Amino acid sequence: MTDKVIPLADHRYLQRVPVIPSQLEAATGLLGDTLGRPLHDLRISVTDRCNFRCVYCMPKDVFDKDYAFLPQTSLLSFEEITRVAKLFVAHGVEKIRLTGGEPLLRKHLEKLVEMLASLTTVSGQPLDLTLTTNGSLLAKKAQSLKDAGLKRVTVSLDALDETTFQRMNDVDFPVADVLHGLEIAHQVGLGPIKVNMVVKGGMNDDQIVPMARHFKDSPFILRFIEYMDVGASNGWKMDEVIPSAEVVRRIGESMPLIAIPANYAGETAQRWRYQDGGGEIGVISSVTQSFCGDCSRARLSTEGKLYTCLFADAGHDLRALMRAGHSDAEILTVVAHLWRARTDRYSELRTINTEGLSSATNRKVEMSYIGG
Ligand code: GTP
Ligand code: 5AD
Ligand code: SF4
Ligand code: SF4
Repeated sequence: MTDKVIPLADHRYLQRVPVIPSQLEAATGLLGDTLGRPLHDLRISVTDRCNFRCVYCMPKDVFDKDYAFLPQTSLLSFEEITRVAKLFVAHGVEKIRLTGGEPLLRKHLEKLVEMLASLTTVSGQPLDLTLTTNGSLLAKKAQSLKDAGLKRVTVSLDALDETTFQRMNDVDFPVADVLHGLEIAHQVGLGPIKVNMVVKGGMNDDQIVPMARHFKDSPFILRFIEYMDVGASNGWKMDEVIPSAEVVRRIGESMPLIAIPANYAGETAQRWRYQDGGGEIGVISSVTQSFCGDCSRARLSTEGKLYTCLFADAGHDLRALMRAGHSDAEILTVVAHLWRARTDRYSELRTINTEGLSSATNRKVEMSYIGG
């Protein structure tokens, strides 16, 4: 008899089970890391699965039928997610973003939204509760998400041209369905809605101007994202990155733009508005102009590991602590220690040593697992 090989998806990445500090502490809502950055933003990945195979995120040759996605028992339950979220909110988190994979693939997600929507910030305000989606199931789910208490959505869309979009998502998903999802989300009031376009040079950069023109004078805020070296499978090369400055230049040639200030400290996007009053766009330049200096984002992976950077190679296993019966006070103290010790600034370091750093750190976690 031969042994059945069970792929240990949980052990693909380095993990650390945090040690409980001997002295427990209460949350003050005012944590700072080694660079003085507060903890404001928690991104929660609710599934590592997706019905798209975007070339820059889940390339088909890696995420194929043999790929070991996490088994159901590994996922945090909604109760566990809400418990962690509550502890982070006590530490000062004001924004929660549900991501994936494709978060709308997680069954009964509305229930989780409802549970999270009942939390309030340290100052008693409702959370900024949002979700990133590829839009494929949005038309179907927008109303129930809104009813459950979701505030807004961000939708990924990489092209308007059908052939180009299908080459980017690699599952022949049609543009019209995403556009329909956007319309419905707008109608039910899930705004302000942002549209995120990852620009991969030579693949969809000819869509920059058509996308800008399409979303100009619309209620949607289009943002162009520099293709990043996240994860270890997209075969990233610097010469496929179109710098944001070039994006702004190309659009500005026919639709003049004026720079406008950020909405809040630590915003990922630099904002520009059309001179003629046609609304705004954003550019997210994590490669050419990194924004680690203000990064207040923590990420909770699908099976409950805390990552203090999108480019980390190891997570801190909060699920292990919960399932071992540790108390809220203990986990709260662990999180405080981890955040205070945080030194991450990967994108800044990559800017200094681009190709070297990107290839040296080949154990980076996939974005579909950790959450965008
Ligand atoms: P708003 O809350 O609407 O301002 O959204 P956001 O820009 O904070 O979040 P979103 O998930 O829309 O981010 C857009 C893209 O920016 C992501 O898909 C990533 O490509 C990139 N991004 C977001 N957060 C980080 C980060 O912490 N580090 C880096 N390097 N890139 C990030
Ligand atoms: N570079 C930049 N952004 C990425 N995303 C996923 N992979 C990458 C990458 N390699 C982001 C996109 C997408 C969201 C779900 O994750 O913004 O819209
Ligand atoms: Fe799925 Fe979003 Fe990744 Fe595309 S970018 S494969 S839609 S998780
Ligand atoms: Fe934050 Fe890491 Fe992204 Fe820098 S690279 S902005 S530290 S998540």
